[in-house]
Amino acid sequence: MIDRETIERIKDAAKVEEVVGDFVSLHRKGGNYWGCCPFHNEKTPSFSVSPAKGFFKCFGCGESGNAVGFLMKHEHYTYPEALQWLAKKYNIEIQEQELSEEQKQRNSERDVLYHVSDFAQQYFVSNLFDDEMGRAVGLSYFHKRGLNDDVIKAFGLGYCLDEWRAFTDHARKNGYSDTVLEKTGLTIFKEDGKYYDRFRGRVTFPIFSISGRVLGFSCRILTSDKTAAKYVNSPDSDIYNKGHILYGIYQAKAEIIRQDKCYLVEGNLDVVSMHQSGVKNTVASCGTALTTEQIRLIRRFTNNVTILYDGDAAGIKATKRAVNMLYSEGMKVRMVLFPDGEDPDSYAQKYGSTQLQEYLRHNEENFILYKLRVASDDIARDPIRKAEFLKELVDTIALVPDLLERNEYVSQCASLLETSERALANQLAMAIGRNLQKDSKPAAEPSTDATLPPPAEADDYPGPLPLPEDIVPLEAAADKAFNINEVGAAERHIIELLVNYGNNDILVDVENENGEIERVSATVAQVVVADMMADDLEPHHPVCQKIYSIYREAVLQDAQVPTAAYFSNLDDDKVLQSQAIAFMTEPPELSPTWQKKGIYVKSIADNIKEDVRQAMLDYKRLDVQRQIGEIARQLKTASPDDQLILFAKWKALKDKHVEICSSRNLRRIIT
Ligand code: CTP
Ligand code: MN
Repeated sequence: MIDRETIERIKDAAKVEEVVGDFVSLHRKGGNYWGCCPFHNEKTPSFSVSPAKGFFKCFGCGESGNAVGFLMKHEHYTYPEALQWLAKKYNIEIQEQELSEEQKQRNSERDVLYHVSDFAQQYFVSNLFDDEMGRAVGLSYFHKRGLNDDVIKAFGLGYCLDEWRAFTDHARKNGYSDTVLEKTGLTIFKEDGKYYDRFRGRVTFPIFSISGRVLGFSCRILTSDKTAAKYVNSPDSDIYNKGHILYGIYQAKAEIIRQDKCYLVEGNLDVVSMHQSGVKNTVASCGTALTTEQIRLIRRFTNNVTILYDGDAAGIKATKRAVNMLYSEGMKVRMVLFPDGEDPDSYAQKYGSTQLQEYLRHNEENFILYKLRVASDDIARDPIRKAEFLKELVDTIALVPDLLERNEYVSQCASLLETSERALANQLAMAIGRNLQKDSKPAAEPSTDATLPPPAEADDYPGPLPLPEDIVPLEAAADKAFNINEVGAAERHIIELLVNYGNNDILVDVENENGEIERVSATVAQVVVADMMADDLEPHHPVCQKIYSIYREAVLQDAQVPTAAYFSNLDDDKVLQSQAIAFMTEPPELSPTWQKKGIYVKSIADNIKEDVRQAMLDYKRLDVQRQIGEIARQLKTASPDDQLILFAKWKALKDKHVEICSSRNLRRIIT
């Protein structure tokens, strides 16, 4: 029990933004902090922390609470555990109590698993430093690998004695049951009643949770015996899921936030070695292919990932898959290629910390631009390989969420590989369309419906695009769990422009009564609404429609256009408030690649204007594609007479499609 007075002191000391900031990357905006919610999946921040009020709130999923509540929810702590964590963070002393017998046998299974893992951790560490054999074999192995005692301790590295059951017997003596030892995988029990320590004779790398709890172990053999597995890992359990955690995240997270970047390596030793060399923002996937959950874990702290890999075939193949996943999760991906035969650990050990850091700085490249550069020498004279390469690259570019960035890649690609920019842009549009379709289609039900292309021009027929309604179930859209990511991309972009910039003035060219082109100033809302109405377009998604109609009314009545602040302060319609907040974005930022190349972005107003134009074209293009798809469906069952009419319609829409695509005329910001 912690006494009341201490509890009060802990609660007074705890700053909600600091506590939440240990787990989520937060950005200050006015008096509050914003970040991506750790309780549901999102790419656009709708999670806010108010230092003044002392609580956090997510406008996306509705989760809210104070610092203690955050820890209980996020770390699955009990109330006293959360208080203990805070006391440690804020250096407040609480009397350490002996574990009572009752506490030891706490019925919560997870707790026992945590306890036994922690118990094993302490035992392995004491083996390493205090046991004669442990020092001679385990510690000297780490020293031989060039690690110093500081980093060995920072990562809690240890050793499991090379005896059959030294650990298990020790754990049994301390009251841990066989069930618990088996569940965590620390002990292997055979059917004949024999049992032994899973990690015997290996050095141990504990795998920590974000907050520093031991979840499991990854243990390396000391010899180069090729017949035994190099690493033996804890099996998944109630507390350990290898696809959900990253090796090193606990030691790396503060530095990831500070550098706004995460290095991704392959091996445990790479992480430890890099850390020792001063590159502390490094993690590895725990011996698995990178998973979406692991990417989301990184995304809580940064959007920038740099993959470090050795250029062998297996590495390249694994990287390709990882890169596409990273892009689809909205990350910025860079890479560093190591010299032949070196991995980050061997490089760091061979050349030392300064040279490693320099190597990383000088060899970091944007992944797509890197691929382009390498390929352009290689495939220039081989049209077949070039086509294959382009297809693959376009598929990757299609996953990049940012329009500006995509366009940049397309222009670079076109000029480096001497291909038509327009053709690439069209391919890209189709790839994006395909992705949209893939995302919205239930996996189990292969739809044969969309596959029949109209008679001619079969090759460039992108297939019907789903209506946004197909993407989001209506009921999900309307309630508080409304998830902005599920709205169709083009539609979302238009609402984003309205909510964030609806009130900004831009200069546009319009035709006056005399048929002359005149340059006038108009708000973004006026331009968007006029353009939408000219083509008889309405957003499909109910939430988008609701927000859009507010802007349309304002424009039609020549009234004040609502600003982002209007929605934030809208206290009497909480639902609308949270829905609109979900569309609010950070002001546009310059990508570092462009800065490096001396490319500058024109004024914000110019960007917004261009963005509006592109967004409207995207939206119209998708709408036309949807209509084309609709007609293609009808064509299959129509009578011959109707087919003629439909075909004429189809042709007209195709022309319109071509017109829209050609006026896309990709923006060039290179001067
Ligand atoms: N791994 C594994 N099981 C194996 C081999 C590897 O789980 N049998 C995982 C480990 O997490 C390991 C990572 O894959 O860290 C990378 O493997 P590798 O590059 O072979 O190991 P390193 O960590 O680089 O170790 P070392 O430098 O000692 O060879
Ligand atoms: Mn290695």
